[in-house]
Amino acid sequence: MSHAVSPAPEIRRTASAEAAPWWRQAVVYQVYPRSFADLDGNGLGDIAGITSRVDYLDELGIDAVWLSPFYPSALADGGYDVADYRDVDPKLGTLEDFDHMVAALHERGIRVVVDIVPNHTSDLHEWFQEALLAEPGSPARDRYIFREGTGPDGSLPPSDWVSAFGGSAWERVPDGQWYLHHFAVEQPDLNWANPEVRADFVRTLRFWSDRGVDGFRIDVAHMLTKDLADVLPTQAELDAMPRDGQHPTIDRDDVHEVYAEWRAVFDSYDPPRTAVAEAWVDRSRVPLYASSESLGQAFNFDLLEADFDASQFREIVTANLELAQSSGSSSTWVLSNHDVVRHATRYGLPDAERGADGRPARKHGQEWLLSGGTDPKLDRERGERRARAATLFVLGLPGSAYLYQGEELGLHEVAEIEDGQRQDPTFFRSPGADLGRDGCRVPLPWEASGPSFGFGAGEAHLPQPAWMGEYAVERQDDDPDSTLALYRRALAVRARVQADEGLEWIETGRPDVLRFARPNGWQVVTNFGDAPHALDAAGSSVVLSSDPGAAPGVVPPASTVWLAP
Ligand code: NOJ
Repeated sequence: MSHAVSPAPEIRRTASAEAAPWWRQAVVYQVYPRSFADLDGNGLGDIAGITSRVDYLDELGIDAVWLSPFYPSALADGGYDVADYRDVDPKLGTLEDFDHMVAALHERGIRVVVDIVPNHTSDLHEWFQEALLAEPGSPARDRYIFREGTGPDGSLPPSDWVSAFGGSAWERVPDGQWYLHHFAVEQPDLNWANPEVRADFVRTLRFWSDRGVDGFRIDVAHMLTKDLADVLPTQAELDAMPRDGQHPTIDRDDVHEVYAEWRAVFDSYDPPRTAVAEAWVDRSRVPLYASSESLGQAFNFDLLEADFDASQFREIVTANLELAQSSGSSSTWVLSNHDVVRHATRYGLPDAERGADGRPARKHGQEWLLSGGTDPKLDRERGERRARAATLFVLGLPGSAYLYQGEELGLHEVAEIEDGQRQDPTFFRSPGADLGRDGCRVPLPWEASGPSFGFGAGEAHLPQPAWMGEYAVERQDDDPDSTLALYRRALAVRARVQADEGLEWIETGRPDVLRFARPNGWQVVTNFGDAPHALDAAGSSVVLSSDPGAAPGVVPPASTVWLAP
């Protein structure tokens, strides 16, 4: 039996939902361009590769693609080290290729969101190259954050700050000054107090908006503005400071002055361009980024850190819908992206170990990665089953869902990467402790065999283990029980339903089973437990199940059903 348990009856559409701005409940598919499709066969995915797969994206049924950076870059941080914000990396194509891709996607009604990386440039950006040649105190240096060192001869960094990828957050240049880099050495932080920096990003937003881009994903949106005293606090002091909008480096209130200016740019287009903030901030401060005066929407990453657990999911949904309501935005749901272990794998491993604050003590799956994928043992089948259930749960929620390329194939994280093949700066800067994010960035398998599983004509830039062939698009395309078929069907039903953004919980009598209804009667039931749940479906019929073998009237363990009145 296929996922369609009964022929989908018409669920009432809601006119108000249909009239709402497109992004409020969009399904956005994240493309990591270097690993999507390699048309020119150089081992790296490219823009023309994306264009060549427009049919696939169309059939999947997404509303928009979000492209991780495709700008000129030395790839010190997978492209988040941008050398030129207004061009395409020649390794990935040309601006003309980009225009073709946008036109092809738009033709299918798929919108395009691009990544903007404003906290830092690449060290190869012409501004940084100019800064290196310029004098201390010069206007060229003022675009970045340069400081004198400490110690008798200035040979010690200005502070003991640690970069997000490990090691010092300061790097010394030949004339003895130091520059701040919150991420890799190759990613110098910009000085957002400098009007030239502000003006240049406005130019960049206009450049892509004029090319027809529909929206922007803003990288580390909570870190741009900084207030650095002459005597810098220590890392311990910094960590102890409240994050109340006045913190020297994180989530400062004044960052919204930048976004107010950007808002005027977005709103000067018809339709207005959209933005979503990648802001790792206290929940209470997310609405500031999601407000219509600021970026308009913000990522909610809570599910990335949650176990496959009913009470955690319910708390996260309730809290985030309240936050969205308070900002006037819609919520966002993310189970996987290019920075975390894929959710099929997380759910197939023992639950994350948690610290006293209830948060994962270290990145979920890290031990498993360090063991080369052998310890603890990954239960692939269980992980995929739970991932399908979680995905259907999330796709039933009000708000927009962000999918990460490959999750529609049920792909697992790749653990089989030799040290010499790794690319992620996290790996290089935390020797041995953190293997980084390469395992979720391995190129997609399009075909079950052949060079790089149909990714390109040559070898892929990260190694694809043999098991990837089993997950190939080719294998799943015509199989009605495949994960790909489930995603296609779910997105097709979701698009037809167009429910308003509300949600009402329905008690199930079981703490491990969640059930909710949308305003038009569409219902979602997820069994997070190990025992089957008898489904009370009076007056409704099952339109979709994440378990193709589900018997009528039952929600099997680790599965989700959708009901229609
Ligand atoms: C967040 C991005 O998602 C991540 O991939 C990147 O390494 C950092 N920002 C730095 O740009």
